Amino acid sequence: MRASEFIQFFAFGGLQVVAAAATNNGGDGLAKCPGYKASNVKKTSNGIKADLHLAGPKCNVYGKDLDNLKLDVTVETSDRIHVKIYDAAEQVYQVPESVFPRPKPGKASNAALKFDYKENPFSFKISRSKTNEVLFDSSAAGLVFEDQYLRLRTHLPTDANLYGLGEHSDSFRLQTTNYTRTLWNADTPSIPNNWNLYGTHPIYIEHREKGSHGVFLLNSNGMDVIIDKDHSGQYLEYNTLGGVFDFYFLAGPTPIEVTKQYSEITGLSVTVPYAGLGFHQCRWGYQDVFNVAEVVYNYSKAGIPLETMWTDIDYMDGRAIFSVDPQRFPMSKMRELVAHLHANKQKFVLMVDPAVAAKNYGPYNNGVKDDIFLLNSTKQTFHGVVWPGLTAYPDWFSNGVQEYWNKEFAEFFSPQTGIDIDYLWIDMNEPSNFCDFPCLDPVEAAKQYPPPPPPVRNPPRELPGWPCDFQPAGTNCKRREAEQPLSVEKKTSVDSGVDTRAEGVPSTSSNKWKGLPGRELISPPYAIHNAYGPLPQKSINTSLIHHNGLTLFDTHNLYGTMMSAASRKAMLARRPSSRPLVITRSTFAGAGSHVSHWLGDNDSDWPHYQWSIRQMLQFNSIFQVSMVGSDVCGFNKDTTEELCARWAMLGAFQPFYRNHNAEGQVDQEFYLWKSVTKAAKKAIDIRYRLLDYFYTAMMQQSTDGTPALNPMFYLYPNDKNTFGLELQFFWGPSLLVAPVTQEGSTSVDVYLPDDIFYDFYTHEQIRGQAKTITMKDQAITDIPLFLRGGVIVPLRVKSAMTTDELRSQDFELLVPLGKDGSAKGSLYLDDGDSLDPKEKSHIEFEYNKGRLVAKGTFGYKTKAKLAKITLLGVTGSQAARATKSVTVDKQLSESFTVDL
Ligand code: NOJ
Repeated sequence: MRASEFIQFFAFGGLQVVAAAATNNGGDGLAKCPGYKASNVKKTSNGIKADLHLAGPKCNVYGKDLDNLKLDVTVETSDRIHVKIYDAAEQVYQVPESVFPRPKPGKASNAALKFDYKENPFSFKISRSKTNEVLFDSSAAGLVFEDQYLRLRTHLPTDANLYGLGEHSDSFRLQTTNYTRTLWNADTPSIPNNWNLYGTHPIYIEHREKGSHGVFLLNSNGMDVIIDKDHSGQYLEYNTLGGVFDFYFLAGPTPIEVTKQYSEITGLSVTVPYAGLGFHQCRWGYQDVFNVAEVVYNYSKAGIPLETMWTDIDYMDGRAIFSVDPQRFPMSKMRELVAHLHANKQKFVLMVDPAVAAKNYGPYNNGVKDDIFLLNSTKQTFHGVVWPGLTAYPDWFSNGVQEYWNKEFAEFFSPQTGIDIDYLWIDMNEPSNFCDFPCLDPVEAAKQYPPPPPPVRNPPRELPGWPCDFQPAGTNCKRREAEQPLSVEKKTSVDSGVDTRAEGVPSTSSNKWKGLPGRELISPPYAIHNAYGPLPQKSINTSLIHHNGLTLFDTHNLYGTMMSAASRKAMLARRPSSRPLVITRSTFAGAGSHVSHWLGDNDSDWPHYQWSIRQMLQFNSIFQVSMVGSDVCGFNKDTTEELCARWAMLGAFQPFYRNHNAEGQVDQEFYLWKSVTKAAKKAIDIRYRLLDYFYTAMMQQSTDGTPALNPMFYLYPNDKNTFGLELQFFWGPSLLVAPVTQEGSTSVDVYLPDDIFYDFYTHEQIRGQAKTITMKDQAITDIPLFLRGGVIVPLRVKSAMTTDELRSQDFELLVPLGKDGSAKGSLYLDDGDSLDPKEKSHIEFEYNKGRLVAKGTFGYKTKAKLAKITLLGVTGSQAARATKSVTVDKQLSESFTVDL
């Protein structure tokens, strides 16, 4: 949503009142809730089972108490306990296995965690087996399990260090007083703070000086998680609108280990293509295909490496997915644009929204015929309103939806007859709906979204090196005779008429209800603090029933992740052996095992620039969505030269690096300002030289869950000063990134823990003394970077204009010596694109006492060799810049040793 629409929505929708009015009056009633009593407790080989019955008369505060519950406790691995409390009849909705496959239990000997319980009233504790330290204690309040409301509260230490529970743009370390984190996926920009955003990840990490642990609640219902203090002390309380208590407790004891253990539950982050780490340019509002071509051309003219060009909904015919605007983005020109990019080893991305325009065209007609759209209560296609106006929404639980999606992708994105995109962008999948609830007349509401006006741009400028059709008239160039419309273009030709027949097409699906019957699916008695007020507001009706009988009330938060999984499969069906890169807006826990994420609609302002770090760390370092980044230079509002220059530099240290902004805002391509060009060139140069170090960290995350990005406390878990830091972070195990974060400032305070660091640029050794140092004279084309002693960093000796070219550059090693005078590091190499690369190299470097040893596996053949080694800190702290560089000529094809 654009800022203007957003403001309008609040101004006229009266929703602020609704949102603010989301108060729950059950407080007193809850005090009377009886809790549960455990009985029939049985030990199993690796846990216990018990029955739970109400310990007194029902309280029925926000629904009906369920009397007959079951408790299943399983020590699943030596680091993980699974505690599940659910209804004995198993009628209550649970997150489907098809969406969230359950983790397999492993070896559970020497369990680090133990489970204890109290019978009456029932409560349980999770503690560390060795020390008895209590990590979770549900006796903080009685358990409530109603058909429309579940509550469970745990005691916490005073001012606990808590991280996670997103998606949010609040402080990285969560507030511990009067804090409510609502989880309900919504098309909300991240202003104001505290709103529920696009994704749901009910995992938190609690860090104590004694160690870290993690708690994941597998529940997709809307919820408020409250963190606060009262007479009984600090607590964290879950308030969900349904589902079951399905907890996974993770032992850590380091934050990195918690993250790795979490990846065993969510699945590992997908591997990303090497080229996906290149620089991406996007914007909403490119007028036509010539405008897009011009931007590509201008980047090349300015000498700024552009890896991937993107096009937003502008390319669509009347903004209908799987169609091109025949005037602005004719298919034949789109194909030439893509061919040009591919010839120059660049990539192309298009956007696809889930909502299909309800008009007489293939994608809609096929969807109705295949019966894959969500249906309303009379089993007719449900309609909402998105960019093209009236739209239908794929039901990702319907039979045949994957085939439908694959078919539409295969046809429209076919390398032979359609637009051969390299990667994919999916959006609006919370799912978003512009029609205000209850959306009584979507056809009328849709009229507010007329197709975009005819092109207003100037004639194309000369683009030397581009196909003739991209040159202005009069250019000495042999044009093609006449446009040959392709079959796909015919299929998507303009027809704005709404196919009202669809309204009358009944579904063949059974629509059998699943989950507890008799619930209030729109305004449940407990109102979570959804930013938009009522649950279906700005989304779709939560009382809709999927083809498999589940209700949107229960599955709403899964929609974006299901679309993500289906879209990844559709991309794979097109190019089965290539690694897809799919960037989604909406996510649920586990989404990272299918796709990557951008942080949605930020503002071009300093707070959003700062928050981009905390939001990125949330996803990469906690939620296991490794590839993530903000809209660089900002999306809504007009950016400024200074902000854009700073963001161009900070963005180069996000895994996903894309400049993007909204329709109506000023242009912000990097080449538009001299200073931004300089900043971007410098930052991309550093990023590309480090790209294999980044890639190694990303692949490591996809192999065992080790986060590619480290919040400060991940690497210094015993240093209290690091627990709240969120404006500086580590890329991989070595590179400390500490941007200037204030407008108008040329300095930044950087906290350096007790360790050895080196200035990345000067190689000067800096002895960290658990103190803040001030980096002065940082122009807008500068970003402070440091190397952590003890970690070897491989770099390419030279950057390049594309990652393809970069891959043939030789390597050098920076060897910053640690406190003990040694250093270690690794380098992973493969072809950067195969889904399952057969040829890989995992090279481990180790430096000690004058000798560097490289060993490991060397399956990937590369002509790039190791050309140089630089030791940093050779003569200890006496010499500020004691470096030693040697030129070498080592093939990366077998183990070797270098004496330095
Ligand atoms: C909303 C997305 O968040 C934004 O990035 C995109 O430009 C617009 N939709 C238009 O597609």
